[in-house]
Amino acid sequence: MTEQARIGLIGLGTMGAALALNIAEKGFAIAVWNRTTAVTHQFKADAGALSDRVIPTESLADLVAAIAKPRTIILMVPAGQAVDDQIAALAPLLDADDLIVDAGNANFHDTNRRNAAGLPVRFLGMGVSGGEEGARHGPSIMGGGARADWDRIADILTAISAKAEDGSACATWMGEAGAGHFVKTVHNGIEYADMQMIAEVYGVMRDGLGMDATAIAATFGRWNEGPLKSYLIEISAAVAAATDPLTGKPMLDVILDAAGQKGTGRWTAIEAQHLSAPVPVIEAAVAARNLSARRAERQAGEAVFGPAPKAVTGLPLDALEHALIAGKILCYAQGFAMIDGAAHDFGWAMPLPDIARVWRAGCIIRSSMLNDMAAALTEDAGRNLILAPAFADRLKVSVPALRQVVAAGALNGLALPALSAGLAWFDMARTARGTANMIQGQRDFFGAHGFDRLDGADRHHGPWGAH
Ligand code: 6PG
Repeated sequence: MTEQARIGLIGLGTMGAALALNIAEKGFAIAVWNRTTAVTHQFKADAGALSDRVIPTESLADLVAAIAKPRTIILMVPAGQAVDDQIAALAPLLDADDLIVDAGNANFHDTNRRNAAGLPVRFLGMGVSGGEEGARHGPSIMGGGARADWDRIADILTAISAKAEDGSACATWMGEAGAGHFVKTVHNGIEYADMQMIAEVYGVMRDGLGMDATAIAATFGRWNEGPLKSYLIEISAAVAAATDPLTGKPMLDVILDAAGQKGTGRWTAIEAQHLSAPVPVIEAAVAARNLSARRAERQAGEAVFGPAPKAVTGLPLDALEHALIAGKILCYAQGFAMIDGAAHDFGWAMPLPDIARVWRAGCIIRSSMLNDMAAALTEDAGRNLILAPAFADRLKVSVPALRQVVAAGALNGLALPALSAGLAWFDMARTARGTANMIQGQRDFFGAHGFDRLDGADRHHGPWGAH
């Protein structure tokens, strides 16, 4: 061994191996350890020109000895108990100022708990987005924990992260404790919502307009050159364009219509409820995944009620593009407001403009629109995104199309849960005099809960009488 490693990494699965190579490529010597020693040696053997910077180790003690002090060790192990087990095994071997970084998809409550547990070492929780490709060539990194601990390894994280078009690094400290994993969770909720809205529009094209996969691929491809330019639209075009080697049919026509999930999108919906933060587009997307997985129930439903008419006439593709633009703005407005809510509840920094910036490259939800969102949040981070003039103007243009698409869906039996939820949220959010006065009347009627009055008069109960 010629030098001590600047950093260590545990867990050479797909993501861990890709991240370790990325770190080595950026010039940092890295010590690695995997539960199965053969995997560790194979990793070094496969590292090619980077193998000089890879130090394979066969025990945790060897790993710790291979890293320069104060040590930093990244955990890339499955979220949950495996992280606790790894911390328990590692901590006795470390010094108090050594740093463990959990870079898995942790539930931020676990990260909060680990921070609060008074671990004998320093601890950072780091959300990493971008899949294997991102981990290898530039992920989006959302850090949480003590600022000083983030600063200690910021040079590495900056070097390995994705770079936005303006060259800035997509790696930012989000706040104390679980803040980084919280932001990653909301990222995934938005990821679910973006994907669901694209799937809904795909459904309108396929079932409403009778378009084939090739025409749908071309449409997504065209949209990817406009305001919707994003990784998810780009890959949707590629998915629609692909042909099944087994049957020669479009891939989309052979893939089962039941979505899987590992749960992080669901966490967003759950946390939104705890925070009283309305994120109905994300909630609808989570519910839609759950319903998609209940295929037998859906088949029984179609057997009883018959297929919906579905065919739509007079709906231009432009309207679908604008519906997606509006839906996306509404969904992100909800997501950023939810993060703002968490900043207040948990006392976290949560720099909203930086969060938009960190999502501009490397992550699954990267899109050109995030540039404008970052600009709008820089003007005023406390204002809902839909009220920022640049986005209010876009919504004024695009919401009529969203209305047209949602109406066509409702009339013809095309399920558009996320787009509909976005529109309903928008219509509430732009209505000064709502309908909750009825709810307050009902609450007072059956429970004497009281209400406030518009005229400010000092009478807070109704004349309901006996019923
Ligand atoms: C990312 C993704 C990733 C996530 C997958 C699958 O940012 O790289 O969010 O972390 O695990 O997208 O998630 P589901 O299995 O829940 O769809």
